[in-house]
Amino acid sequence: MELLAEDSDFIIVKTDNPEETEEVGKFLGMHLGPGDIVSLIGELGSGKTCFTRGIACGLGIEESLPIVSPTFTLINEYPGKTPLFHFDLYRLDDSERVFDLGYREYFHGKGVAVIEWGEKVAHLLPDEYCLVLFFSEFDERREIKIKGQGKRFIDIIKSLSKFLKD
Ligand SMILES: Nc1ncnc2c1ncn2[C@@H]1O[C@H](COP(=O)(O)OP(=O)(O)OP(=O)(O)O)[C@@H](O)[C@H]1O
Ligand SMILES: [Mg+2]
Repeated sequence: MELLAEDSDFIIVKTDNPEETEEVGKFLGMHLGPGDIVSLIGELGSGKTCFTRGIACGLGIEESLPIVSPTFTLINEYPGKTPLFHFDLYRLDDSERVFDLGYREYFHGKGVAVIEWGEKVAHLLPDEYCLVLFFSEFDERREIKIKGQGKRFIDIIKSLSKFLKD
């Protein structure tokens, strides 16, 4: 993996295979705690679930629980010291439906909420969260832009940038 660019509130990382994408997610996950939200945006197959798997690993979620996209349920819950609430909103046609899911409890609850297709609920996100954009290049190359919204996440971005440089 390679750090392609950085600024005070974002980094852009290039990964060359799924394992590297997972590793970046893992390092982000290690910094997350209850109530944190990560919004993932990128085309089909760009690596959102792969990255989520890394976050789960960083949170210390039991590895025997496979992280797969919750296609029919919109949300999967993985128990752990800090639980993971994994949303996949691909099939969400009406963003109001997340109210039926009781999204508030997940977004501000005792776990970390990771939301694939987060753009669908952008208007419901708080001031502080982590935004991750995936750009699928040719073959296995991906460019991942990780942006911090709010001080807490800007600080996390700084740690990620340091980690990637060492
Ligand atoms: N550098 C890479 N990072 C992540 N995934 C990669 C990479 N290179 C190849 N892949 C492959 O791309 C696919 C990414 O799938 P993944 O399910 O993570 O994407 P997704 O964005 O969650 O898709 P969907 O929108 O369908 O949920 C996997 O098949 C993975 O093996
Ligand atoms: Mg997915």
